[in-house]
Amino acid sequence: IKKIGVLTSGGDAPGMNAAIRAVVRACAYYHTECVGFYRGYQGMIEGDFVALNARSVRNILPYGGTILQSARSKEFMTKEGRAKAAAKLKDAEVDAMVLIGGDGTFRGGLALSEEYGIPCIGVPGTIDNDISGTNFTIGYDTALNTVVEAIDKIRDTASSHNRLFFVEVMGRDAGFIALNSGIGAGAEEILIPEEDLGLERLLDSLERSRRSGKTSSIVVVSEGDKIGKNVFELAEYVKENLPYYDAKVTVLGHIQRGGSPTCFDRVLASRLCVKAVELLMDGKRDVMVGIMNNDIAYTSICKALKTEHTVNKDLLRISDILST
Ligand code: F6P
Repeated sequence: IKKIGVLTSGGDAPGMNAAIRAVVRACAYYHTECVGFYRGYQGMIEGDFVALNARSVRNILPYGGTILQSARSKEFMTKEGRAKAAAKLKDAEVDAMVLIGGDGTFRGGLALSEEYGIPCIGVPGTIDNDISGTNFTIGYDTALNTVVEAIDKIRDTASSHNRLFFVEVMGRDAGFIALNSGIGAGAEEILIPEEDLGLERLLDSLERSRRSGKTSSIVVVSEGDKIGKNVFELAEYVKENLPYYDAKVTVLGHIQRGGSPTCFDRVLASRLCVKAVELLMDGKRDVMVGIMNNDIAYTSICKALKTEHTVNKDLLRISDILST
């Protein structure tokens, strides 16, 4: 392998710059050329790339976002789009790719490999943590810390005004962010897509809290939860049924995707991406490199895409006990 390409695709995540840096520096260490494609697969289709050397990635480690930018390319989902991308890769003499992103990114890599024989290694980078074959994805830890910090602030005002806050967090159809930030921030209730607790149970729990003397509460709601009402409707419903509650809504939104990555995410990104380059040098392909029980783990990209992610539902029990 003489030249490796790298891209970031899908929703950006804090730690993607640390990941790019690690790919570029590992390539330099192993005397392999490296190029970065801008805006994920869209840059590949347009032949929009830049040669990267060890100095090109100086001082990017602490920054959120991605210097290569990111996109969800619709064109790449078509056969014609992929044909253009493969042709550009050939022109640029790129032998293999490191793809940093979530499941959409890996699906793209699989297509490139199956249709054009380009060796690809996937690196999980998404705040959602919804990829199987790894305990953690790059950006998840930073997002959790962002959410906990925000909820701590919301709690200050909630308790000053005896209010109930519904805080919506990201995660797409996975509840990892909600569940873990909810425990970290001491939420009253946590609503996640993997477990529909139902409206009645929510009302009971809030009623119990009030009777036990609580004057303010936080309910963390995952954006993909299946309770059947959006977060605003949910707040209205609670106000109608428990009129003594002054319920407010905060949607944290894209703040969760930004910010300087935590040390955990920087180390994770560095480990995974050095390994990704080493795997390509060893002739491996079409695997995702992840972390399981603090060891590097490999999963075929196919398998990483097919397996369901699973949240640790015992955490709901912990949350119940602690919100007594
Ligand atoms: O996958 C990351 C994520 O932030 C999800 O949590 C969220 O559902 C989605 O991306 C939002 O995407 P967009 O930035 O395109 O609105």
